Amino acid sequence: MFRSARITIFDTTLRDGEQSPGCSMNLDEKVLLARHLESLGVDVIEAGFPIASEGDFAAVKAVAADCRKAKVAALCRTTEQDILRAWDALQRAERPRLHTFVATSDIHLEHKLKKTRREVLNMTRDAVRLARTLTDDVEFSAEDATRSDIDYLCEVLEVAVAEGARTINIPDTVGYTTPVEFGQLIKTVHERVVSESGVTISVHCHNDLGLAVANSLAAIEAGARQVECTVNGIGERAGNAALEEIVMALRVRADKLPFTCGIETPLLYPTSQLLSSIIGFEVQPNKAIVGRNAFAHEAGIHQHGVLSNPLCYEIMTPESVGVPANSIVLGKHSGRHALSRRYAELGHVLAPTELDVAYWLFAQLADRKKRIYDQDLLCLLPDSAKSHPDVSDNINDLFSAAELTTQSFER
Ligand code: KIV
Ligand code: ZN
Repeated sequence: MFRSARITIFDTTLRDGEQSPGCSMNLDEKVLLARHLESLGVDVIEAGFPIASEGDFAAVKAVAADCRKAKVAALCRTTEQDILRAWDALQRAERPRLHTFVATSDIHLEHKLKKTRREVLNMTRDAVRLARTLTDDVEFSAEDATRSDIDYLCEVLEVAVAEGARTINIPDTVGYTTPVEFGQLIKTVHERVVSESGVTISVHCHNDLGLAVANSLAAIEAGARQVECTVNGIGERAGNAALEEIVMALRVRADKLPFTCGIETPLLYPTSQLLSSIIGFEVQPNKAIVGRNAFAHEAGIHQHGVLSNPLCYEIMTPESVGVPANSIVLGKHSGRHALSRRYAELGHVLAPTELDVAYWLFAQLADRKKRIYDQDLLCLLPDSAKSHPDVSDNINDLFSAAELTTQSFER
């Protein structure tokens, strides 16, 4: 039914992502990240919005000069000034893309643009026509598409396609839609606007209701072949669809989502880490795929399962996304299996009675401390405790208690 099962990954970390509070990057950082995105295998890097500032212009220019493999896109509104400025920034790009956009919802037309539907239609026509005189690769976005009148939206998209836009993007600008509704919208656009024309439908989902990834996947199932996303899901307000989540959903659930993309998944985690270090904030610990806890197991029953066979509680290997190894986190929910394994890794194979004592001590300590480190575990061992002068009072107390317990065991 659809032309291709390959999904184009359009990364907008440097544009929509960078637009969000606390996520700004300087020029060198943008070039560094763009290089990593290219190695990661993204197809398109949206490097910025050149008319927005001198800094954005310079960044697009630098990324365009640096990236040889990925397409480099520059964002512009539908005015001549915007389009020419964006094109200027793309001059040294090997594979440039002009990405022009205008809002199509009545609420944006009335309150933001102060334009009629007819005027916006004409702006679309003129903008795409001008952009196509500069490059073959033109993308048109209907901002706030999901709150637009469907007939009007299709009319605007038809004009963009007639003028030569190769990609039409359907943004859920305010993160309002739901998967079933969005899938239906994409199907309608496919039937009414695209059909056999070869034009690519793209989607761009924001995460205000936490549905950006689900909506993007529903759109792919309905015929979208480009997804716009960001590393770690950064972006305006609650962010954009997270690149790593979309890619791994396609990979892990290929049985239900038979689509491919060019991403080197072992580079997902390093890229996420690089972005965090550049912008100076970490992803939430429980973030899917790249969060600190994404492959951490603390509950005893889970630890036992993972140690026996990781498939018990892991649907993908940590290595497949570039996380060094699953981390068995020792805390108050941990069990004897994990403790015994960790001691063995630390070079101490404990006999069953030794493990009983160590486990009792460990449980006491875990009630008081959130994370138990290897050093703590070593301090809990009778012989090593005395050789660690910096052992904490708490542990000494516990250790004394353990000695009592040991005596009572021995009796
Ligand atoms: O969210 C949005 O609508 C956008 C467009 C400019 C594509 O970022
Ligand atoms: Zn956006």
